[in-house]
Amino acid sequence: MSFPKKVNLYEVGPRDGLQNEKNIIPTKIKLQFIRKLIDCNFKHIEIGSFVSAKWVPQMSDSEKIVDAIEKLEGVSFPVLTPNLKGAVSAIKKKADTICVFASASEEFSKRNTNCSVTESMNRIEEVIDEAKKNNVKIRGYLSCVLGCPYEGKISYEKTTELANFLIDKGCYEISLGDTIGCGTPTEALKLFEKISKSINIKKVAAHFHDTYGQALANIYAVLQLGVQTIDTSIAGLGGCPYAKGAKGNVATEDVLYMLNGMGIDTGLNLKEIIKVSWFISDYLKRSPKSRVTQTLGRK
Ligand code: HMG
Ligand code: MG
Repeated sequence: MSFPKKVNLYEVGPRDGLQNEKNIIPTKIKLQFIRKLIDCNFKHIEIGSFVSAKWVPQMSDSEKIVDAIEKLEGVSFPVLTPNLKGAVSAIKKKADTICVFASASEEFSKRNTNCSVTESMNRIEEVIDEAKKNNVKIRGYLSCVLGCPYEGKISYEKTTELANFLIDKGCYEISLGDTIGCGTPTEALKLFEKISKSINIKKVAAHFHDTYGQALANIYAVLQLGVQTIDTSIAGLGGCPYAKGAKGNVATEDVLYMLNGMGIDTGLNLKEIIKVSWFISDYLKRSPKSRVTQTLGRK
C-alpha cells in the first residue's frame, strides 16, 4: 500500500453542490462560479444534469450552461444523464463527458430515478451505446455504497458487480459514492480493496459526503490503495435531494489542505480556491461548510 504522488480533484460543486439548494440560482451566477473554477486550474468540473426539471429544478438550465461554457483543451465538463432522453440532449449540446448513475439499493434507485436497479442498468446501457456512437466519454457513479437511507447496509458484492458492469460497458472511471456520509475508514478501505481486485484502482474515484465528519479519514484510507481521483465540492456544498440526511460533499479546500500537507500534487492553489469558496458562499448567504475556509478566512 502506498500513497499516489499526484491526485486529481474532480470538482462537483456546480452540479452535486448546487442541485440541493432550495432557491433557484441564476444561470449568470452559475456561469461566474464555473469560470472561477476553471481559473483555479481544475481539469474536471461537473457542470450540470440533463435530468427531469420536475425532479431536480435546480439543474433545469444545464443546456444553457453547457452552451455557454467555452471548450478548453485538457479540461472536461461532465454532465449527468439518467436516461436516453438526457443523453441525446447532452450529446446534441456537445457535452464532452456524460455521467451515468445508479445504486445497488433498490429503494434508492426507485426514489432517485423511479426504476429498479435492473431497469436502471438497462437505461444505462442505452445511454452508453449512444455515447459510444458519438465518441463521448462516459463516467459511472454508484451511490449509497457504504449505506442507504432506506435500506441500511448495502452488499459490497452487489456494488462490485455493478461497478464491473459499468466498466465493462465502457465507463472510463467509476465513482463510488458514500451518498449519506455514513461510512468509516475501515469500511471504506474494505470496499475499495474488494473492488480493486477486479478493477484497476486508477479507474476508481472516491466520492465522500461529510455528514459525520468521516470524509477526510475515509479519503486518507483509500488513498493508500492508490486511488487517484477524489470527487470534491467547493465550500462543502451539496447533497442528493433523494437521499435523506445527505449533508455536504467533502469540501475541496479541506481535501486540498490535507493533500498539500501530505506532499501530494494536485496542481491547485488553496488561496485561489478559498476565494471561490467565499464567492459562492456569499451568494448563498451562508458560511462555507469547509473548515479550512472558515479558519483561514478571506485570504
Ligand atoms: P420519471 O418521472 O419516471 O420519467 O422520472 P418519465 O419518463 O415518466 O418522464 C416524466 C417527465 O420527465 C416527462 O415530461 C419527460 O419528458 C421528462 P412531461 O411529459 O411530464 O413534461 N423527462 C426528462 N426531462 C429532461 N431530461 C430528461 C428527462 N427524462 C424524462 N433526461 C427520471 C425518471 C430518471 C427522468 C427522473 O427520476 C430523474 O430525472 N431523476 C434524476 C434524479 C437526480 O438527478 N438525482 C441527483 C443525482 S444522483 C446524485 O446526486 C448522487 C451522486 O452525486 C453520487 C453520490 O453522491 O452518491 C451522483
Ligand atoms: Mg454526491
